[in-house]
Amino acid sequence: MRLFYVNPHNVLDYRNDIWALLVHCNNDFIPALSERDRSSGAWLSPTDVTNLPKEYFASLLENHFIFAEVRNKIVGFTCFKNRFTIDGLDSLGETNYVSTTCVYDAFRGNGVATALYKFLEVDIPDDIKLAWITRRTWSTNLNQIHLFDKLGYSLLLQLDNHRGEGINTVYYGKKLL
Ligand SMILES: CC(C)(COP(=O)(O)OP(=O)(O)OC[C@H]1O[C@@H](n2cnc3c(N)ncnc32)[C@H](O)[C@@H]1OP(=O)(O)O)[C@@H](O)C(=O)NCCC(=O)NCCS
Repeated sequence: MRLFYVNPHNVLDYRNDIWALLVHCNNDFIPALSERDRSSGAWLSPTDVTNLPKEYFASLLENHFIFAEVRNKIVGFTCFKNRFTIDGLDSLGETNYVSTTCVYDAFRGNGVATALYKFLEVDIPDDIKLAWITRRTWSTNLNQIHLFDKLGYSLLLQLDNHRGEGINTVYYGKKLL
């Protein structure tokens, strides 16, 4: 597996790979990606999976990306916003905030996401490294939360029932420096 970083200026070169992964993973997310306007914003009413909201996709393409490639095929990515401040966690200052991670089903459970997250901690360009990596997910995304625990993230903030009855939005962070 090859891992590599792409800055926002060059992300458009990978838009088809990103789109294909988003469509594949759409319904794994709560709410589905096709029901969102932005990865960090308000939820919209459902739309066709093949027609992910343009604003959501456009805002995603402003991120920094790390790709995982196997035999010349992109099998997963994680992406993040550099210098992002989170409402309610302002005391952390500017953080590298992970927006979205997707891995093709057939490649899951093989350490692809783990490798992407370790790359984010160590191998991104020095000039965009920051003390904190932050991210959020939903409380029933157990594989993801298991990974956060394993990689040394702490639960920083919880928004109860934010994604429906009994489904909380949970913010995690890891201090690197
Ligand atoms: C969450 C996601 C990114 C994890 O990717 P991955 O490459 O499967 O992750 P890893 O293989 O590094 O780790 C998966 C962990 O989940 C568990 N797991 C085991 N089998 C698994 C499988 N078939 N599928 C998924 N997870 C599995 C394992 O416990 C593993 O932890 P371990 O290393 O201690 O055994 C991936 O499942 C995905 O794309 N999900 C859909 C989108 C999503 O939820 N994104 C994150 C939103 S915040």
